[in-house]
Amino acid sequence: MKLTFKFLLTLAFVITVVLGQHLKDDEIEEKVNELLNQMTFTEKIGQMTQFSGTNKQYEQMIREGKIGSLLNVIGAEENNRLQKIAVEESHLGIPLVIGLDVIHGYRTIFPIPLAASASWDTVLIRKAAEIAAKEAASAGIHWTFAPMVDIARDARWGRIAEGAGEDPFLGSAIARAQVLGFQGEDLADPLTLLACAKHYVGYGAAEGGRDYNTVDFSERTLREIYLPPFRAAVNAGVGTLMSAFNEIGGVPASANQFTLRTILKGEWGFDGFVISDYNSIGELVAHGIAKDQLEAGIKGLTAGVDMDMEGRCYTTAMEALVAEGALSEELINDAVRRILRIKFKLGLFEHPYVDENLQKGLILHRDHIQAALDLARESVVLLKNEKNTLPLNRKKINTIALIGPLADDKDAPLGTWRCEGKREDVVTVYEGLKNTYGGDVTIIYAKGCDVKGNSRSGFNKALKAARKADIVVMVMGESADMSGEAASRADLNLPGVQAELINVIAETKKPVVLVLLNGRPLTLSNVESKVNAIVESWHLGIRHGNAVADVLVGDYNPSGKLTVTFPRSTGQIPIYYNHKNTGRPGDPNNKFSSKYIDLPSLPLYPFGYGLSYTKFKYTGIKVENNRLTTSDDLFVSVNVKNVGKCEGVEIVQLYIQDKTGSVTRPVKELKGFQRVALEAGEQKTVQFRVPVQKLGFYDLDMKYTVEPGDFSVMIGGNSEDGLTTAFKVVSLEQEEKEH
Ligand code: NOJ
Repeated sequence: MKLTFKFLLTLAFVITVVLGQHLKDDEIEEKVNELLNQMTFTEKIGQMTQFSGTNKQYEQMIREGKIGSLLNVIGAEENNRLQKIAVEESHLGIPLVIGLDVIHGYRTIFPIPLAASASWDTVLIRKAAEIAAKEAASAGIHWTFAPMVDIARDARWGRIAEGAGEDPFLGSAIARAQVLGFQGEDLADPLTLLACAKHYVGYGAAEGGRDYNTVDFSERTLREIYLPPFRAAVNAGVGTLMSAFNEIGGVPASANQFTLRTILKGEWGFDGFVISDYNSIGELVAHGIAKDQLEAGIKGLTAGVDMDMEGRCYTTAMEALVAEGALSEELINDAVRRILRIKFKLGLFEHPYVDENLQKGLILHRDHIQAALDLARESVVLLKNEKNTLPLNRKKINTIALIGPLADDKDAPLGTWRCEGKREDVVTVYEGLKNTYGGDVTIIYAKGCDVKGNSRSGFNKALKAARKADIVVMVMGESADMSGEAASRADLNLPGVQAELINVIAETKKPVVLVLLNGRPLTLSNVESKVNAIVESWHLGIRHGNAVADVLVGDYNPSGKLTVTFPRSTGQIPIYYNHKNTGRPGDPNNKFSSKYIDLPSLPLYPFGYGLSYTKFKYTGIKVENNRLTTSDDLFVSVNVKNVGKCEGVEIVQLYIQDKTGSVTRPVKELKGFQRVALEAGEQKTVQFRVPVQKLGFYDLDMKYTVEPGDFSVMIGGNSEDGLTTAFKVVSLEQEEKEH
């Protein structure tokens, strides 16, 4: 009897917890409104305020309901302690939502996002986000300021490292995967994170690639290039967005009613909330559209920024304006409703605290480290491999000279935004090679030079090492601080004297493999011809060295493809594959065509490019039906055969071109991709299905339309090479008339 009662009690408790986590939307709305009715003006502003870090003054403010969110507070215990103040000591007990930049891992650091995008593996990218969420959530974090879904067409911009490259289609697929990974099936699950698609919008189009700089583009470019990944994130259920630092054609993104209210909250019906970037509302003063913080706050709020990150612009001074009728309280209520709604969805009211024991079993879990290695390997892009220099031939190689400032560097692989990542977790290329070879091969290591600076004092030792070796592996590039926020570069050559060292070593005539670590495309024209092979390894996270070693020795066949164009020179920037034709398409035989007189227009390595240790042959491209209506699907297939000697993965890419439209269209646009694994000698027919509705664009009236007409479709292994065929789209009326 007693037992049954106890059992029933437990059951009741479990049901309450489970149901509590799964409040229905209308129940949440009811609770939000109830709470809102009890809130003072100060408490409402408090919910709309986020501060960084904590101190005694902030703790008192939490107690008084003046802070609704914190960022940059680390550790489960500390987060619980602060949460306790909000929940147990404030008037209404509204829990804090605590955020952090968990960008590519929490403690288990994965490849930087640009690297991970080169895998084109949305399944693994989603898994990486899921793992990052688990680790961070177990440490008391509720919210990540990720994914960064900014399209970037300018390699000078340091934050290109944080995104998925230059293409809106791939960028959208990856944005979706990341949101689903971070947020999981249910935001109330204690091991998921609330995601934040940032930086809304256009941040990657900063003039000159200089961070925070002015942006000015057409509404068409906004809608076709910069918005799609945000739309994909919203469609995937992202709970928050971050408004950007930049202006767009005179209107700062954090005061932009058109992008925030008209498009995001209007056209797309987004019901989560928008947070500003760090003081991006306060910066409206420096932008010159507000005379002081209060005016900046009013502009941010009116535009639709619901929470102010560290700007201190949402203040109780607004109350007088509401009383005067100069500011509508409904704007404030709407912002607070959005924030509370998310707090309910996160389950914070039911479970405000994290179980402090969770971390132990999760941080750096074996499976997490394995996933970090898997993604690191898939992120590597083989850019050059003259006469099969790679993989290194175990039988012929006795001595390797390992040269370069990043060969044994434990910091660079962590890249930008390493969260709680630690150098001690990192495996360098030197360590990776030693682990792989054991004692079988002699590795002579010489640093040679620093990443930056102009000392050549290490050149001689490096030269001696090279002379003794059968092959030279040079590990060079950018340190972690050379990409990411506020790390724009005007010169994209290898920094310091690294290129000079390559020249010196190349004179030994020993075969040279260049392994690059970097957060962006580099201009490699001055070294490319001096080396026999180039391995692009970006900043690959804690298993960097293992992944590179696996590729170098051939234990792993590289399959990564560039998601961003590598220019020959910075003078070619901006350079991207989906450009327009111009009225005078580049023609080497015509002076008066669109080109440079001192450089080809083509990049060094195009979007979608990457080599493998095997070769793939494409044949037989076929469209199932070459006449389609706007409501049909395009079915197109191609045969891909592995004609080399080892198994490999090919990333098969589908591009279309709309031949004639009412407005100009890009020369090609990615509309599909698949990772295809093939044994040596194996052939597969790769089929794509593309809804014709996805082939549209914004017309003269800025309406999304699929215009009838001729299209070409190309399928290949990169954006420059492939097999092409054609199809026609007819309107539904035309189709009915003719059939
Ligand atoms: C500024 C950065 O632009 C943004 O990406 C980041 O999330 C915030 N700081 C918070 O750290």
